[in-house]
Amino acid sequence: MSEKHLDKIISLCKRKGFVFPNSEIYGGLKASYDYGPLGVELKKSISDKWWKIMTNNHENIVGLDSSIMVHPDVWEASGHISNFNDPLVDNKDNKKRYRVDDLLSQQKTKVLELLCENMSINFEQDEIIEIICRELLEKENKHDGVLEKSGVIDPFSGNVGKWTAPSQFNLMFKTNSGPSEKTGKSIFLRPETAQGMYINYLLVQNSMRLKVPFGIAQVGKAFRNEIIARNFIFRTREFEQMEMQYFVHPENDQESMDFWKEQRMDYYINELGIKKENLKFHKHSEDSLAHYAKEAFDIEYNFPFGWGEIEGIHNRTDFDLKEHEKMSGKNMMYFDALKNEKYHPFIIETSTGLNRQFLMILCESYYEDNENNRVVLKLPFDLSPNKTVVCPLIKKDGLPEKAKEIFMKVNNRYKSIYDEQGSIGKRYYRQDEAGTPFGITIDHDTLNDNSVTIRERDSMKQHRVGIEKIFDFIDDNK
Ligand code: GAP
Repeated sequence: MSEKHLDKIISLCKRKGFVFPNSEIYGGLKASYDYGPLGVELKKSISDKWWKIMTNNHENIVGLDSSIMVHPDVWEASGHISNFNDPLVDNKDNKKRYRVDDLLSQQKTKVLELLCENMSINFEQDEIIEIICRELLEKENKHDGVLEKSGVIDPFSGNVGKWTAPSQFNLMFKTNSGPSEKTGKSIFLRPETAQGMYINYLLVQNSMRLKVPFGIAQVGKAFRNEIIARNFIFRTREFEQMEMQYFVHPENDQESMDFWKEQRMDYYINELGIKKENLKFHKHSEDSLAHYAKEAFDIEYNFPFGWGEIEGIHNRTDFDLKEHEKMSGKNMMYFDALKNEKYHPFIIETSTGLNRQFLMILCESYYEDNENNRVVLKLPFDLSPNKTVVCPLIKKDGLPEKAKEIFMKVNNRYKSIYDEQGSIGKRYYRQDEAGTPFGITIDHDTLNDNSVTIRERDSMKQHRVGIEKIFDFIDDNK
């Protein structure tokens, strides 16, 4: 799938009511999107599915809905105030701003080689861009002017940039609220939902009488002032995360990491139906680990613009709990009454973006059926915003009345849409693009023999089915 497909998917999203550009009447707000009628249904189905698999299927995992805004010390303790940064450079010529790693990833190999030579770095190393970034930030004075000297091109102008020294840019959105004036500290919009689960973990454990190992799951909004937000809904400044924090005995961290890695990859293949060849693990090198992690794996999907992270699985050790203990002065240890043992559990985290899963599912489902001159969204039945479209063949002879009667019945069980506008072929094609798996058509024979035509989205096959057998047919073929 090529970049061109992404443009087609973006256009389909707007046309069919999945995703709209935000604030369009005011010229839009960059990297901000609204989810339309079909989009909210799809997003909700993805999140419900994740929730069911992560909570209902595990008797020791429970849910939480913590606040977006928390005490500012939470971010001091978690390390987000000092460490949650991206390195930035500006081109003084045209005032364009870039994330250094992103800028370097767009350079030709010979530019990177020269840059390494000028910085006395061995080019033949894994994750070379991360190594360069770290060196640039740590030894800013030593490498003054090195980007320009090495011929680093500004992708916007196509010329060598007049680059400023790289500087760190904190990704958290700062705001003020009542308590911040009192304490003299700023309030932040959370950049991850995880911290809400850490600061509440003993309350959750006690109230639910949980024993290690146990997990806390949460779905909610997170905010990051991303320098470069792009690729449609892949990277935005406001997004939703689905995170699960699994609290284990420190001796069992590796076993738990292995378990969750397998579970999560299995989820994408067997629950969401993503093709194996479109998924892979990416292990983080020591240099690229987040400040809290001992080990981390990403699950990546092969998007039209290349491989991109959809989920992170992290061994966060006891870092967060110990830091909150230090900052708050409150004991954050778990007490195992059976073994009479007190300890800080290690945390194995699975963290995925709901919006990225949404985009992955659209990319995976988008299909151009050139033979039949149509676009089909081959969404799995349980994710399709509408499961059926109910249509009277024509708008007269009592067919709309009968069709509405059938629609009410079907819609009661499977969310459906009623459509009597245009030719039946056009109506089917409209719904193929929206991912609706079945079309149910009421014709003159229906009035005599109580049967309807059910048309399948993917194969376009049509079947004559008795009205009382509609649900059996859908259940057997969904
Ligand atoms: N609590 C750990 C954590 O937040 P992360 O790897 O920074 O880890 C986890 O983020 C997931 O959140 C990513 O795999 C991605 O799916 C999603 N995500 C992160 N930043 C995002 C952004 N700017 N826009 C959309 N999704 C994002």
